[in-house]
Amino acid sequence: MIGVFDSGIGGLTVVRALLERLPGHAITYLGDTARTPYGSKSADTIIRYSINNIEFLIRKGARLIVIACNTASSYAFEAVRNRFKIPIFEVIGPGAHLAVQYSRRLRIGVIGTRATVASGVYEGHVRRINPGAKVFAVSCPLLVPLVEEGWISKPETAMIVRKYMHPLKTKQIDTLILGCTHYPVLRGVIQRKIGARVVLVDSAQAIAERVGDFLKAPGSNPAPIPQGQLTIFVTDIAEQFRKTAHLILGQPLPIHQADL
Ligand code: DGL
Repeated sequence: MIGVFDSGIGGLTVVRALLERLPGHAITYLGDTARTPYGSKSADTIIRYSINNIEFLIRKGARLIVIACNTASSYAFEAVRNRFKIPIFEVIGPGAHLAVQYSRRLRIGVIGTRATVASGVYEGHVRRINPGAKVFAVSCPLLVPLVEEGWISKPETAMIVRKYMHPLKTKQIDTLILGCTHYPVLRGVIQRKIGARVVLVDSAQAIAERVGDFLKAPGSNPAPIPQGQLTIFVTDIAEQFRKTAHLILGQPLPIHQADL
């Protein structure tokens, strides 16, 4: 079983991409809704929460973990990667690779939570892949609560997105990394506000490709992952989570309380 976690609902965009890329694989999702948002927490707290989340998913039978949260990937990946015996994937590297691949003029924008942007992790990854690339990062702290609330097509959301896109437009980026798993839900409005010529990089799709390739590689997955469906856990049951999950996954699914 593949264990996936995020601070809240955003990681379901990664689950959707994983289900498309790896149909039939069992996935258990943990949304840490009781402790969201991670984007305004300290590194130590984000690491502690990530360890709890991974331990929970391993108890449920996970044999591979996807950290479907840019904030947790930025701060906790190095701390957890050697702590557990199973493979752990993060979302930053795959998104950065895809962006460098797509960007013609190597002017790459990144949007993310305050914590992700402050970590400078995307700049680090992109520059390691291509030192000539220019990266412009903007934190968009209001977008996560808008997605959690399901305010996808409200005019207020469009106005806020326009404001966040402004500094990136002036930098003439040609590629924009959606550096938070919540943002693919707002893909339409982000594309409209940044302009049709800017390529949007969704880290959800990038990580699904990476995990798909890993599971196909000989010897990478000795014990077959059993066929099954998606099980969703949250640390705090909220009606809004149910509604937004339905919106992201296109179907209503039972949501279980996690005993972390
Ligand atoms: N979805 C998380 C991410 O990808 C951020 C949400 C939060 O601040 O907790 O960074």
